[in-house]
Amino acid sequence: MDNDSFNYPDRPNDLSSYWMPFTANQAYKQAPRLMLEAKDMHYTTVDGRKILDGTAGLWCCNAGHGRGKIAEAIKKQVDRMDFAPSFQLGHPAAFEFANRLADLMPGDLDHVFFTNSGSESADTALKIALGYHYVRGKGSKTRLIGRERGYHGTNFGGTSVGGIVKNRMFYGSLLAGTDHIRHTHDIEHNAFTKGQPEWGAHLADDLERLVQLHDASTIAAVIVEPVAGSTGVLIPPKGYLKRLREICDKHDILLIFDEVITGFGRLGASFATEYFGVEPDIATTAKGLTNAVVPMGAVFCKKKIYDAYMENTKSGIELFHGYTYSGHPLAAVAGLATLDVYKEEGLFERAAELSDYWEDALWSLKGGHHVIDLRNLGLIAGIELEPRPGAPTARAMETFQKCFDDGVLIRVTGDIIALSPPLIVQKNQIDQMFDTIGNALKAVD
Ligand SMILES: Cc1ncc(COP(=O)(O)O)c(C=O)c1O
Repeated sequence: MDNDSFNYPDRPNDLSSYWMPFTANQAYKQAPRLMLEAKDMHYTTVDGRKILDGTAGLWCCNAGHGRGKIAEAIKKQVDRMDFAPSFQLGHPAAFEFANRLADLMPGDLDHVFFTNSGSESADTALKIALGYHYVRGKGSKTRLIGRERGYHGTNFGGTSVGGIVKNRMFYGSLLAGTDHIRHTHDIEHNAFTKGQPEWGAHLADDLERLVQLHDASTIAAVIVEPVAGSTGVLIPPKGYLKRLREICDKHDILLIFDEVITGFGRLGASFATEYFGVEPDIATTAKGLTNAVVPMGAVFCKKKIYDAYMENTKSGIELFHGYTYSGHPLAAVAGLATLDVYKEEGLFERAAELSDYWEDALWSLKGGHHVIDLRNLGLIAGIELEPRPGAPTARAMETFQKCFDDGVLIRVTGDIIALSPPLIVQKNQIDQMFDTIGNALKAVD
């Protein structure tokens, strides 16, 4: 690869200073996996190997890589105006993007607050929920409820309502006044279910247990991922989300859907909100919002929430929250171009059409080495492996490395393989992914 065309050729083999996120730094730096280029469905490594992207980067490049229309939009914008302050000033692209997003989101989730990531979207949503009750004179409603095995990013709010032990255990007491409902993953009842499991809607009643414990007058909001991705593809049982909605309505608790991975076509619909026909009060997004080309997040709020803030502030700032880069011009135009690509290429519909083929390809692994569960919805698949005795996660990590060596990028979390390809994936590429995984599973101990 010709490094001269880049600005960083000085020390290409010195990996010492960069402290990498969610990475086994020591192991990685012994045997780095360095990506240099990306186009459509493939990455190219620094040594010129092509890697098929089975994960849309990190669940985020839904339209695939190197999309010219998005790049062109950014190039034009950076020449026109690189940045404008987002407090007390604005620029047209951010307003236009918010309008287009509001049109895309079903129901009346039609007010959009911009952030820079999924983590910021989660914390923003939690703060908006707290402030909503406060401005309505219900300031005792402060408790935030998450779910075991939930992932809402890595800031303090999202970590506190999240339910992943390793993400929490190092960081002290986290945010006060949080609690968690049970997760919905139960292999005993639901192993090898295609799509949504029949069993488990009653698990939503766990929210009633917390209402009994804390009283509804102290609870502000409950946040869940409609489909949990990062914790290993947990598909909601039929009726579960609807039941959560009903319990929230009964107790004046805001329901927040974390749509950071389910948004923008992943399930074969615009958002999980559309796919499941259940409307939250707030929805958090990021990732596919801009096809990951420029970092950005967006929090969608129901009109009643926006209105509550407006009506309760006679003059001046209504919401004391925001980021320097909220609605950043480059992100906003990247987002607008991304929505164009999704629409022009019918990518959400494409994901829906491909989901049966995807399911069949996944299920070819049934009975395969180490496989104790398969699950799928839209263009998401989870393959749960039996942990190697005494060495949990090792089998999955070795499978990841073997697939990478064989030219396919998968994602592993614990002992679960999670797949989420760009929505432009071709059928022969789906075959390649599952063949490669099947062979890797045969090869690892
Ligand atoms: C459901 C969910 N919420 C939040 C996040 C955090 O997003 P970010 O890494 O952009 O902060 C993620 C990231 O994977 C996610 O899957």
